[in-house]
Amino acid sequence: MARPSLSAALFQDHGVTRNLVLWGSALGTAILLALTATESVWFILGLAISLPLLALAVVDLVQPRHSLRRNYPAAARVRWLFEMLRPYLRSYIVESDLAGRPFSHDERALVYARAKGDVDAHPFGTELDVYAADYEWLAHSITPNPAAVRDSRVSVGSSQCSRPYLASRLNISAMSFGALGANAIEALNLGAKLGGFYHDTGEGGLSPYHLKHGGDIVWELGSGYFGARDKDGRFDPERFAKTARLEAVKMTEIKLSQGAKPGHGGLLPGAKVSPEIAATRGVPVGVDCQSPAAHSAFSTPRQLLDFAAEMRRLSGGKPVGIKLCVGQPHELFGIVKAMTVSGVLLDFIVIDGGEGGTGAAPAELSDRVGMPMREGLILARNALVGAGLKDQVRLAAAGKVTSGADIAMNAALGADWSNAARAFMFSLGCVQSMRCHADTCPTGVATQSPARQRALVVPDKAQRVANFHKGVIGALHDIVVAAGLDSASDFDPSHLRQRVNPSQMASLAELYPMLTPGALLDETGDSQFHRWWRQADVDSFRKLAVV
Ligand SMILES: Cc1cc2nc3c(=O)[nH]c(=O)nc-3n(C[C@H](O)[C@H](O)[C@H](O)COP(=O)(O)O)c2cc1C
Repeated sequence: MARPSLSAALFQDHGVTRNLVLWGSALGTAILLALTATESVWFILGLAISLPLLALAVVDLVQPRHSLRRNYPAAARVRWLFEMLRPYLRSYIVESDLAGRPFSHDERALVYARAKGDVDAHPFGTELDVYAADYEWLAHSITPNPAAVRDSRVSVGSSQCSRPYLASRLNISAMSFGALGANAIEALNLGAKLGGFYHDTGEGGLSPYHLKHGGDIVWELGSGYFGARDKDGRFDPERFAKTARLEAVKMTEIKLSQGAKPGHGGLLPGAKVSPEIAATRGVPVGVDCQSPAAHSAFSTPRQLLDFAAEMRRLSGGKPVGIKLCVGQPHELFGIVKAMTVSGVLLDFIVIDGGEGGTGAAPAELSDRVGMPMREGLILARNALVGAGLKDQVRLAAAGKVTSGADIAMNAALGADWSNAARAFMFSLGCVQSMRCHADTCPTGVATQSPARQRALVVPDKAQRVANFHKGVIGALHDIVVAAGLDSASDFDPSHLRQRVNPSQMASLAELYPMLTPGALLDETGDSQFHRWWRQADVDSFRKLAVV
């Protein structure tokens, strides 16, 4: 994409309405000048209003820091005014926060503060209802450990991987070029470079914008195998190897499903398949581009592992993993069981939650299909621990992660690291206007419109991405210290406590059965996990008729 120009911002993509104050005040000034010259000198007084407005709009249009003000010069300040007044109006507007937005104002405000490098300390005490039925908290220790590792990393790579990767505890979850614009991709990648964490490409392929700044890449392949497909849409080993061996690509990932739309393929209409998107995906320009619902490269757990092993070999020994939102537990257990039977290992598994995000999806799939992240993570943790594989196969989680506490809670349930998608969108300036599907994102994040993307200035937003990551990792460190641990790897289910009724609490270790290493290999076991294990077939994702 050519750098979005000022004229695009002014004239394209609702340029007149987006720049209404600018055009209006310019026109007003011109009319007032004409009237002053022809009618009466008193018209000059009107300039006291039109000129400052015009100046304000011009300043907003060219300043690099505020996306909304670049896209809606002067007009966007009305929103700003409400934000400023918010603390004083708080008791009146709290209710509206609950009105159907995936993330609360407070969650976003914390991300914004960290991204901008503002003070992120909390005044006056918690605003959460600690006696609410769903309140949960992390257990600290009487003996904190100030010597805890500040930015502990996770080594990803089983014994079958020759090029392990050292992952941060927080990384950028998969979001495709196509769902996000080029500037957003660039800013995320530069942020990842500045902060030393990874950036997942999403299934839309590895674009030049992912490679421009040299941040670590996890290359995701969905059922469309974009960037690694032949002309019929099947996996092409040679094309895959060429890209997977690039230095920036640190790991590869097979996307099985996504929490916001599990089992749903997709169609990118031909009109949207620009030369740039076509080149990134490896599809013809202007022709409808289909992502099938299912993979063509495998259809059984054992075949999935063979495919993963082939990807690892083709990539030159880099870690390979899968990403999924859990549906039927026996299917996930089938994959883990296949590892024990075949000896072929994945290097990592990412669990996405049904609460996860997307650019666009049918409401039913977003709202009612797919296991929430917590439950999926507990299943995956138990499958891997129970199979005696947790030391070899790393586990990660994605689902509304915005803070250090979220990462610590996921770690308590077995996640070696967490990924965030929408929190990183907030760090880019997203205001959750929920226009991702309409290509009219007001902050230039989730749009392909060059005019709107001009609002997102890459170096400024990249720094915010890095700041946000740093703030969260710092907060995670504070929790590790308070819990008296050496690193986030030491959290276990006993660190996470929940209210179960008004007068009782329990740790997750008490609430959920947590298997001990190798427990699933005991054929006499009769927990629900053992039943799923017995139902799991390594040669089919169907359920075996055993109990
Ligand atoms: C705009 C957008 C695009 C996404 N695209 C992909 C994708 O291409 N592949 C994928 O596996 N997940 C995709 N996701 C899901 C995220 O990677 C993530 O798993 C999910 O949103 C949960 O994380 P969050 O709650 O931090 O957003 C996308 C999410 C968003 C918001």
